[in-house]
Amino acid sequence: MSCRRGALIVLEGVDRAGKTTQCHKLVQALQQSGRAAEMMRFPDRTTKIGKLISSYLEKKSNLEDHTVHLLFSANRWEMVPLIKQKLEQGINLVVDRYAFSGVAFTSAKPGFSLEWCMNPDVGLPKPDLVMFLQLNPNMAANRGEYGIERYETSAFQRTVHQRFEQLMQDSSVNWKVIDAARTIEEVHKDIKLLSEDIISLAENQPVGELWR
Ligand SMILES: Nc1ncnc2c1ncn2[C@@H]1O[C@H](COP(=O)(O)OP(=O)(O)OP(=O)(O)O)[C@@H](O)[C@H]1O
Ligand SMILES: [Mg+2]
Repeated sequence: MSCRRGALIVLEGVDRAGKTTQCHKLVQALQQSGRAAEMMRFPDRTTKIGKLISSYLEKKSNLEDHTVHLLFSANRWEMVPLIKQKLEQGINLVVDRYAFSGVAFTSAKPGFSLEWCMNPDVGLPKPDLVMFLQLNPNMAANRGEYGIERYETSAFQRTVHQRFEQLMQDSSVNWKVIDAARTIEEVHKDIKLLSEDIISLAENQPVGELWR
């Protein structure tokens, strides 16, 4: 491998925290500063597995809870060859949700342990940086009505938030908590600085394996 690898940067947070907004702004800022950067999002609703997930989220179909969890994980695994290829090409990947959302959402359902939920994603490419956009779910709800998709209720989102808090206790992952209650530009400034730092660090290190 001759060129420096790109960094795998993930944005996480509850619904409405500003993940998609900030992912777009980060990709744009990195490109403007002359760095190769691309966005990815999970679930990726364009693949065959993604279409099953999309139909489930839109409540057009029902799936058993374990099954849907494994589909979300499979949707990440099917992108792994592409993720690795892009990173090796020196492209920085900015990812809108990753395994952490998958685990936080399923484990917010009754009868699912964090450990069971994490297992299928063990060994995924490990993000060099995971920024958690911290926003209290009441404030998130103020950013517009919750939609009609599955999971978009404030009670469920509060439990999801608790699961994220548990996942953030794990120091094997490079978590940074970002106060997302500020303006879009203020949040962006922090995200950009943290990302630039990690891009310089990551280029000399191999890509890790998540939760292993
Ligand atoms: N810092 C901010 N202050 C106020 N409003 C914001 C801020 N960031 C984003 N928004 C607005 O809040 C809404 C949700 O933002 P966005 O879609 O980026 O969040 P998200 O985390 O991707 O949500 P979802 O989980 O539903 O995909 C949008 O209308 C966006 O313009
Ligand atoms: Mg979004």
